[in-house]
Amino acid sequence: MQTPDLFAVPPDDTQRLAELRQLLHTHAHRYYVEDAPTIPDAEYDRLFRELQALEAAHPDLVTPDSPTQRVGGKALDQFKPVRHVVPMLSIRTETDTSASGAENFDARIRRELGLTESDPAVGYVAEPKFDGLAMSLRYVDGVLVQAATRGDGETGEDVTQNIRTIGQIPLRLVTLVSDPLSPGERAGVRAIPAVLEVRGEVYMRRDDFEALNERQRQKIAAGAKGEKTFVNPRNAAAGAVRQLDPAIAAQRPLSFFAYGLGDITPPDAGGPVFASHFEMLQTLKSWGFPVSALVQQGRGAADLVAYYTRIGAQRDSLGFDIDGVVYKVDSLALQRQLGFVTREPRWAVAHKFPAQEMLTTVLAIDVQVGRTGKLTPVAKLAPVFVGGVTVTNATLHNEDEARRKDVRVGDTVIVRRAGDVIPEVVSVLLDKRVGEPDVFTMPHSCPVCGSVAVREEGEADYRCTGGLFCSAQRKQAILHFAQRRAVEVEGLGDKLVDQLVERDVVRTLPDLYRLGWRAQAELLAISQEQLATELDPSKQQALAMATLSELDRMAVLSAQNLLDALQKSKQTTLPRFLFGLGIRHVGEATAKELARHFGQLDAIIAAPEEQLLEVADVGPIVAQSIRTFFAQPHNVEVVEQLRACGVTWPEGPPAERVPTPLSGKTFVLTGTLPTLGREDAKALIESAGGKVAGSVSKKTSYVVAGTEAGSKLDKALALGVPVLDEAGLQALLQGVET
Ligand code: IVH
Repeated sequence: MQTPDLFAVPPDDTQRLAELRQLLHTHAHRYYVEDAPTIPDAEYDRLFRELQALEAAHPDLVTPDSPTQRVGGKALDQFKPVRHVVPMLSIRTETDTSASGAENFDARIRRELGLTESDPAVGYVAEPKFDGLAMSLRYVDGVLVQAATRGDGETGEDVTQNIRTIGQIPLRLVTLVSDPLSPGERAGVRAIPAVLEVRGEVYMRRDDFEALNERQRQKIAAGAKGEKTFVNPRNAAAGAVRQLDPAIAAQRPLSFFAYGLGDITPPDAGGPVFASHFEMLQTLKSWGFPVSALVQQGRGAADLVAYYTRIGAQRDSLGFDIDGVVYKVDSLALQRQLGFVTREPRWAVAHKFPAQEMLTTVLAIDVQVGRTGKLTPVAKLAPVFVGGVTVTNATLHNEDEARRKDVRVGDTVIVRRAGDVIPEVVSVLLDKRVGEPDVFTMPHSCPVCGSVAVREEGEADYRCTGGLFCSAQRKQAILHFAQRRAVEVEGLGDKLVDQLVERDVVRTLPDLYRLGWRAQAELLAISQEQLATELDPSKQQALAMATLSELDRMAVLSAQNLLDALQKSKQTTLPRFLFGLGIRHVGEATAKELARHFGQLDAIIAAPEEQLLEVADVGPIVAQSIRTFFAQPHNVEVVEQLRACGVTWPEGPPAERVPTPLSGKTFVLTGTLPTLGREDAKALIESAGGKVAGSVSKKTSYVVAGTEAGSKLDKALALGVPVLDEAGLQALLQGVET
């Protein structure tokens, strides 16, 4: 009998290793670059674990391009310098943010090419100017061997370990165009050149940035030392790339867009030489690099201007930050003809958008009181033009944020305003601080009504305890009720509300429909109820008109318009009314769900917490907030009085009480069930009052597992969460205890 050779690699394993790597490369590209995964995450995880296990068994077969090698390098003391074979150039920047920025560029190109008016328009490629950091990726025989920062353009730093952690960056190049194009077609399938350097921008998506900062805040709140939040996505990206410990870099999700080439051998890339920049980008895409879908070809100045305007309008809704656009002459022959001046190509220009961050000084720090009594510190600023508007206020969010940023009166600060977002103070320039201004402290009483302000355990905010006694809260409550998305009282803006509240004409919401009643009742020494019986509608109208006419800047016509708007607002809908009440955590969407579920307001007022939890969208915090609101007699009183004033809405039939055996239970689905599809299982669970979540935690009630169940099942077993099969789920649905 032969003894098996324990050290030989079974040929099956070698083949499977190659297969797994190929599969994982393909799926990683679909997931990270195309945003269109074709297998569930759990299946990807399973393949990944299989590869890890095989590699652990055969460490000598681990290759640098293996998907397992994205993380795992050792922490460095410092980065190695990398000399760029082809220097990394910078581009000339056009700061004129009008259309002339684009027109000047086109005029200069035409002049330098010696074109006259009768010559045709020049072809360009316009691209976003991504706000991240430039990176050069070097591939030898299709395998990523080095990633380097720009540095001074001649010499950068070797950040390969960190760049490997970026899922969007291919570790190995594959030609992704599957159907070969007809011979002679230029942008066809190209062989991958032996040496290829791809240049582009490493950046952090806005959602990844927000999530990262949220995690950082939690770490800081938990007392972690040496942690900080990041100022903006670009800084977070730069910090991650220059992290010496790749394990930390891997926790900071980065993305990549390719926009150019460096060294390339052979220069013809195994086919005809690229004719244009656009064609080169298309080819990079076919090799697996992310190329922005916003890159566009155009002709002449008019197309550049149109692009600048269009991308500028989209700027705030993109998933990532851009600080302008870049125009490039498309033809590579013309690029060569134009050449370079010092370190900048003549054929490209960056056309900037108005800055979203500017410097200004803090004149004062005020504390504002919101509708729910929340106290917000606000920096009053010397007016500054930022993000396209003049800003005079910037939020400091809460006590901890204000302390962390240590903003003081007189400080020079960076203010940021992006899109519709409220302007905020990003940071203080400490070296510009003069003397030792006082540290900001949050007041422990409401700056408006003087009531005690408290900060609950585990909360970031101080709240005024004055409730509707606090005029600031009353004003905000009225403005909230009157806004367009709630019952909508047209023309009732903050100046008017200020006066109505200051003069005590309006204390609570129903007072809006009883203008002047309080004063009149006091004058006659009778109650408002008694007064109501004496005032017919025409007398009510006259009293309201007389009351309004005493306000500043209130002409007869606008008073009449306001009364008409109030009258009109009485016909509303249940969702609008519910939202307008300003119950904490009940936004428009939740109000709609509540209305749909219960049909009638009284059913909501009477609903115990369990019933509220049956509503889609309503979790324990929201349910409790609704209960607390209606448990207060004065809130129910407000609702009654609004109805008495004639506010009405169509009520639906009370919702049918379906039996809900799974109410309050959370499920996680994993793997393939024998008969039920994923959506079927989800619908069944939800119709029985349960919820379906995406990931397993201690709070998960059950994990329902089918075949090919992935890491979720492992996690359930590790946490001791009960695991059901399809039959077990069916039994639960039928109310049978398992
Ligand atoms: S092209 C020879 N295209 O802007 C031209 N650069 O100085 C090389 N950038 O830090 C650059 N988006 O990282 C080019 N679509 C884009 C870009 C872009 C952002 C950055 C680049 C560099 C700076 C140019």
